Parts: sequence; structure tokens; C-alpha cells
Amino acid sequence: MKRMLTLLVATTAIALMAPAMAQFAKPDDAVKYRKAALTVMSTHWARLAGMAQGRVPYDAKSAADNAAVLEVVHKLPWSGFGADTQGIESKAKPEIWKDAAKFQEAQDKLLIEVPKLVAAARTGKVEDLKAAFGSSGGVCKNCHDQFRQ
Ligand code: HEC
Repeated sequence: MKRMLTLLVATTAIALMAPAMAQFAKPDDAVKYRKAALTVMSTHWARLAGMAQGRVPYDAKSAADNAAVLEVVHKLPWSGFGADTQGIESKAKPEIWKDAAKFQEAQDKLLIEVPKLVAAARTGKVEDLKAAFGSSGGVCKNCHDQFRQ
């Protein structure tokens, strides 16, 4: 019993450690990963924004489908900004690592806004989507202004 418990504790500790350990074989892979994730996130964000701004006809199913992708993908880019990616050719500013707390803050804003947007995209009402975009506006620009070249 005691041995089993020890094993359980050890396995849990390893499982909890995993996200903090290097997730990419090479720093180059992390840069590729974050850019790809940002591109996918941006694509689905833009489709929702288009509907919210009336550039694209509102379609409840399409809004929900785009929201489902956004819900997952907005969490992904950030693990690709490990300290070992500093100095690799990209648009990431050195401030990301110099002022990690502020970069985290900018991520947190997105992580708060996107679930609101996703919920609004699922109500089937364009007014909800418009309102959600109205209040989440600037969340991308806020980070880009500070941390992207
Ligand atoms: C926490 C900061 C942060 C937030 C929030 C953020 N971005 Fe970015 N974004 C960056 C950085 C840094 C880069 C440059 C990455 C690089 O070159 O490796 C970038 C790059 C991009 C790129 C270019 C990807 C490529 O292929 O090089 C797109 C598109 C993009 N962001 C869209 C968005 C959109 C849309 C949002 C809001 C929904 C957003 N970003 C929110 C920091 C952020």
C-alpha cells in the first residue's frame, strides 16, 4: 500500500512537471509552432470579427463553429515563447523575456476575453457577438504594440 502510494505520488509529480519541461525538440520548432497557432487563431478570430462588423453575413452555425476552434487554439501560441527561443529570427521583441510579467498580463487579457467571445458566438444572436467584440477590442493590438516588431 505504501509502495503504491509512493508510486502514485511520483507519477503525479511527473505528470505535473511535464508542462514545465521543454515541450519542443528544438527552439526553432517552438517558433514555428507559435506562428502556426497564431495564424490559425487569427483566421477564426477574423471570421467572427467579420460577422460582428457586418462585413460577412451573420450565420449562427458558422459563428459557433469558429468559436469552437478559437476556444482551443487561443491557448496554444504561448508555450512557444520559451526563453530558449530568444534570438531566433522572428517578430517577437526581446521585451517578452525582459518583462515576462507584462507579457503574461497581455496573455491573460486574451485568456479572459476569448471565452466571453466564444460564449457570445454560441447564443445565435449577432447583437451578442457585436457586444463581445466591442469590449474585447484591442486585446490583440495591446500585446502587439508592446511585444511584436
Ligand atoms: C500576449 C501577446 C499577444 C496577443 C494577446 C496576441 N498576439 Fe499576435 N503575436 C504576438 C507576437 C509576440 C507575435 C510575433 C511572433 C513571432 O514572430 O514569433 C505575434 C504574431 C501574430 C501573427 C503573425 C504570425 C506569423 O505567422 O508570424 C498573427 C496573424 C497574430 N499575431 C494575430 C493575433 C490576433 C488576431 C490576436 C488576437 C486575437 C493576437 N495575435 C493576440 C503576440 C500576441
